Amino acid sequence: MALGKKTKLAIGLDIGANSIKLVKLRKKGNSYTLKALAIKELPLGVISDEEFKDRDAVIFDIQSLVDQTDPKMRDVVVSISGHGVITDKIVMDRKSGAEAEQAILFEAEQRAPFDVEDVTLDYHIIRDDPETNKMEVLLVAARNEFLKNYLDMIIDAGLKPIVVDTDAFAILNAYTVNYDVDPSRVTALVDLGFDVTNMTFIKDGLYHSTRDVSNGTRLIFDAISKEFRLNQELTAKTLRGEMDSSIDHDMFKATIVTASEELIAGLEVAISYFKSSSGVDRVDWVVLSGGGALIPFLPELLQAKLSIPIEICNPLRNIEYDPDMFVEFQPEKVAPLLAVPVGLAARSLK
Ligand SMILES: Nc1ncnc2c1ncn2[C@@H]1O[C@H](COP(=O)(O)OP(=O)(O)OP(=O)(O)O)[C@@H](O)[C@H]1O
Ligand SMILES: [Mg+2]
Repeated sequence: MALGKKTKLAIGLDIGANSIKLVKLRKKGNSYTLKALAIKELPLGVISDEEFKDRDAVIFDIQSLVDQTDPKMRDVVVSISGHGVITDKIVMDRKSGAEAEQAILFEAEQRAPFDVEDVTLDYHIIRDDPETNKMEVLLVAARNEFLKNYLDMIIDAGLKPIVVDTDAFAILNAYTVNYDVDPSRVTALVDLGFDVTNMTFIKDGLYHSTRDVSNGTRLIFDAISKEFRLNQELTAKTLRGEMDSSIDHDMFKATIVTASEELIAGLEVAISYFKSSSGVDRVDWVVLSGGGALIPFLPELLQAKLSIPIEICNPLRNIEYDPDMFVEFQPEKVAPLLAVPVGLAARSLK
């Protein structure tokens, strides 16, 4: 008799302002396999300022991704971030099971930004310390209106959102699935998206805090488009390095440097805030994911301006796949884009 290892499947769906990404993972024993991957760039303006300006276009693109990958899929893991989510950390007496849940929700209700009428609450126990008899709990509150709009859209696309996570946790999860966390190094996971940059800080080997900066690569995208008078498609190609022969290299680099100033200033503020609130005097390294990690010169520029070593995140580092299955994209070429969807899929397989 074979002692079969339990096999499970999950789909992570990441709806970003620039593109929708879908990742299907299989977990067998302790190992993960990438079973499907699809990325669809959205027309500019469909999602902006974290709002769905053209809901039908998003639904249409989600459906086309589903048709391309697995038309029978229903259950998906999705995430929210930015203005729709508030997080806060509390320290309280240790409890377990239902008693813990009750106490956590009671605490949450006492806290200012969480008006229980308007939000849906969730929590993660980050640290549970028998010595001090205290536990550290992260509260996550999603504004009901924001959450409902979001979930309705996914349901209207014919899918069933079985778990709703946050981008910040998805990135942390993608990191822990693929890397060993070094407790001696203060780490900033930075996912540089089109409109939002999600930052998750790890200290003493544990989640410390998260910060969503409302800026992303759109600043660079718009500057390149304006400088070289390119439409959306050609700007995207230029950023992917597919137009090298017709673009002035020095001007391209200079445009990226100037357009990144505001973004870098936002990251600096978030890092100083983290340092003062956590009492550390330095961040040892930044692990960079999102489309920003693929933009030419940008990682080096961030490293120089922030004076922090940068490593590009590979959320497929520990995930096997058959390269022949992927015709449209080579997964390793787009890997940094996949931190959120990989983290989402992996979370529901834990
Ligand atoms: N292969 C690539 N090479 C260079 N740049 C790329 C590549 N793929 C995407 N980008 C750039 O990355 C940016 C989009 O990043 P990303 O896909 O992480 O954003 P998003 O998840 O859609 O947005 P958000 O998370 O803010 O909602 C765009 O500016 C795009 O031009
Ligand atoms: Mg994103």
